[in-house]
Amino acid sequence: MKKQWMSVVSHNAIAKNIYELTLSGELVREMNEPGRFVHLKVSEQITPLLRRPISIANINQQANEFTMIYRADGEGTKILSKKKVGDKVDVLGPLGNGFPVEATSSGETAILVGGGIGVPPLYELSQRLVENGVKVIHVLGFQDKETAFYVDQFSELGETYVATVDGSLGTKGFVTDAISQYQIKGNVLYACGPIPMLKALESIHITDKGFISLEQRMGCGIGACFACVCHLKEDPTGTSYRKVCSDGPVFPIGEVVL
Ligand code: FES
Repeated sequence: MKKQWMSVVSHNAIAKNIYELTLSGELVREMNEPGRFVHLKVSEQITPLLRRPISIANINQQANEFTMIYRADGEGTKILSKKKVGDKVDVLGPLGNGFPVEATSSGETAILVGGGIGVPPLYELSQRLVENGVKVIHVLGFQDKETAFYVDQFSELGETYVATVDGSLGTKGFVTDAISQYQIKGNVLYACGPIPMLKALESIHITDKGFISLEQRMGCGIGACFACVCHLKEDPTGTSYRKVCSDGPVFPIGEVVL
């Protein structure tokens, strides 16, 4: 984990309140696993003080660039959304663990399920899986057509199904509705999104093996403040716990209480 002022290479609105930000700098050399995140300081002003955790969506080692996709819905991310090409951003990372790409063997099928701003880390993951000869099936959930993004990019990598709450794109309802409509099955599940979505995926049990990435409010991002603690299923009220920022954000499905 390192800290660096990185330069904005491109910054575009790609859906309603959703931005794609590409940064360049030496820090990219540290980014070797899909599913990890960076902690951004968006301003030198007194507020907002906290860094913002944002997942890594695409890593381009050759160009020394990486891309994030984020939703501008809070004070910090709205400030971030004003950054222009050439501006500098204070980046700490990469943090947390990543999705285990090697958990799926060549010739097997991985099901990648993302909800909203949980979709971006699956993009780098999907590329790595395809490179390894894995068949990928994507199921992406959004509120509506206006907030949907990267459907074409995922479609280039493998079968892609979309669910929207209002039915304006793809299946009407949630990702689990698309999974049941298309009877999607595979060997390994990788998922990232809101807790209700992850709980629903746990309950339908579509694969024997799976990994989920938790979206969590964070403080320090490096295991020091205990703001992101979650409990283990085997010891839900006891003293055992996991920190989402440093033990996660990726956990084997069924390990932590959702
Ligand atoms: Fe501080 Fe996880 S955010 S311990």
